[in-house]
Amino acid sequence: MEKTSRIEGFYKLPMAERLKIVKAFADLSDDEALSLAGFGGGDPSLSDKMIENAIGSFQMPLGIAVNFLINNRDYLIPMAIEEPSVVAAASNAAKMARVKGGFWTSSTPPVMIGQVQLTGIKDPSRAKHTILERKQEIIDLANQQDPMLIKFGGGAKDIDVRIIHTQKGPNVVVHLLVDVKDAMGANAVNTMAEAVAPLVENIAGGRVCLRILSNLATHRLARARAIWDKDAIGGEDVVDGIVEAYLFADADPYRCATHNKGVMNGIDAVIIATGNDWRAIEAGAHAYAARTGSYKPLTTFEKTPEGDLAGTIELPMAVGLIGGATKVHPAARAAIKLLGVKGAQELGEIAAAVGLAQNLAALRALATVGIQKGHMSLHAKNIVNSVGCPPELVDEVVRIVVAEKKIRMDRAKEVVEELKRKRDGR
Ligand code: MEV
Repeated sequence: MEKTSRIEGFYKLPMAERLKIVKAFADLSDDEALSLAGFGGGDPSLSDKMIENAIGSFQMPLGIAVNFLINNRDYLIPMAIEEPSVVAAASNAAKMARVKGGFWTSSTPPVMIGQVQLTGIKDPSRAKHTILERKQEIIDLANQQDPMLIKFGGGAKDIDVRIIHTQKGPNVVVHLLVDVKDAMGANAVNTMAEAVAPLVENIAGGRVCLRILSNLATHRLARARAIWDKDAIGGEDVVDGIVEAYLFADADPYRCATHNKGVMNGIDAVIIATGNDWRAIEAGAHAYAARTGSYKPLTTFEKTPEGDLAGTIELPMAVGLIGGATKVHPAARAAIKLLGVKGAQELGEIAAAVGLAQNLAALRALATVGIQKGHMSLHAKNIVNSVGCPPELVDEVVRIVVAEKKIRMDRAKEVVEELKRKRDGR
């Protein structure tokens, strides 16, 4: 099979056919395909291994975003999400991006921050300097905690010392900068922060309080960019409308929160499907958006000299491929195999590209027909299905109730009956 993610009419296929395509695309085994189809294989004992007091599992739809071309490679993107329209919107934005070559990405090395908080220091500048003088000792002690990480070329690489001002006076905060390689990194970093804390206290005086990673992972960023051809997205007016929409978010935190929510619709869905910690990604994304002191969009949109639309995204991306649910959960494992990623950085870049695509799709709808049009036909589909419409009539009934703008159960029932009568020649 040709390895392309550009799949015409994927959404029209029955679920089993879609799964077949996905299975062939990534050479998945029967078991792997089954775990994607069956909400993680449905093994209830898995929950018991993952969390405390487990009683079962909570199931969520898993969809596949098609059409993604990222750094010249085709990807089928697994997305776990309960909200209609998101997967279709991402696929559509990716399709339109292909005209100009798809997405291009980059990222920083996977460096996480471990914070050690020192309180009760009268002379914080002196403390900062003495800590920095003994930086190597601190790094060496941190690195004794994780020989495996060191073996793979990771580990604590540097430290940074900040003086912050709290309501009870200054704190000296040591940042341990740790290259966590393909891990999300929380365990490695927290262990290191706890291990170096007594030494730091000994060097600087004062009292150590917290020792924990920061989710504002400013040293672990993922970026993506794409150009959308003006004609592919509906013309120069649409380009202008999307730029206006972006500028609205840039100027207004009320709009910006929703703008960034749209970005995270795409990113969270990938993060969840791959068994990663989406709360960490959410926390990092919004803190990053507010890093200048005002809350800003995670994306940018500009008009190019040719009149096309250039979009970019940059955000912290603490995702891992080893440890946690990514390794234990069969559906997450199969999702990662489907993506075919070589490392966690690649996964983070893909998630960023999906976030950008998602945002473009939302802004395009908002700047043109409005968001309800797409939502309404899905809403209508739910209504039509809920009145017991035979599957072969669903599309036609949806078309009629949407055209009539009567998306109600009573009308859907009437139309179903009318079409049934016609079909049966009554
Ligand atoms: C809905 O889940 C997301 C949107 O509100 C995003 C946006 O307004 O940009 C459509």
